[in-house]
Amino acid sequence: MPVANLIDGRAIASQIQGETAQRVTALKARGVEPGLVFVRVGEDPASRVYVGMKEKVSSQLGIRSETKILPESATEEQLLALVAQLNADSRVHGILVQAPLPRHIRETVIYSAVLPEKDVDGFHPVNVGKLMLGDPNGFWPCTPAGVLELLVRSGVKIEGAEAVILGRGNIVGKPMAAILCQKSKQANATVTICHSQTRDIKSHCRRADILIAAMGVAKFVTADMVKPGAVVVDVGVNRVNDPAAKGGSRLVGDVDFEAVQPIAGKITPNPGGVGPMTIAMLMQNTVRAAELATG
Ligand code: GUN
Repeated sequence: MPVANLIDGRAIASQIQGETAQRVTALKARGVEPGLVFVRVGEDPASRVYVGMKEKVSSQLGIRSETKILPESATEEQLLALVAQLNADSRVHGILVQAPLPRHIRETVIYSAVLPEKDVDGFHPVNVGKLMLGDPNGFWPCTPAGVLELLVRSGVKIEGAEAVILGRGNIVGKPMAAILCQKSKQANATVTICHSQTRDIKSHCRRADILIAAMGVAKFVTADMVKPGAVVVDVGVNRVNDPAAKGGSRLVGDVDFEAVQPIAGKITPNPGGVGPMTIAMLMQNTVRAAELATG
């Protein structure tokens, strides 16, 4: 039986993809084919799966995509040369360098080298700065942008709400905080960020009307940390050992779903919550990049 308080990320993502596909059709009608290039370095198994999923959705929406693969031994200079080549290619509207990169390559150097107007990940300092300044012309990182869309399209009242974010990473936690406290009818939350050094995390969590778990600790959020009726969003993807599972391991979120779901007002399943939204927002960013480049 379907659970009544579930936020269906797959359904909402597919609605957004429908909107994006229409924009692709409009671009093609005026002779523009949106193009997205993924760059992978090495053979990180999770990155292979993620890039494969993003490629599949690109082709479903009519976005031309291509994956460039460099060996694990590639140097920072070689990766920078590839990024420069893609920056200069007018058929490429979006560039996504999949993290994590090998340890000898500095992610900040690479993300700063992607042209801000092709930075569909929203990781370039110019785009990070625009988000912080409330300038709507930049690109927002896909996962926190997707969480906002999930909340808005599920009818969650964000304005004035206490939002507590677990995790202060550059991909989710920090931009999520900036997005939720934007001065906008769709945001205007009171935001708290908790992290590994926060004292008494539970007391912060129990105040939350909206609790977003993005710290990467399997099943960290337990029932006693959630205010009854709160909206709980699980961004976590953690691989845990499970001898009974295929391959001896399985993926679990940052929320103990079985325990928290009965008391939450709304909750994202995991998988099927935030994950599909990240990809949907990437496609939306790519089409916007193509529109802006060819406007
Ligand atoms: N690795 C995990 N999440 C992401 C993401 O959103 N973008 C990129 N480029 N790499 C990632």
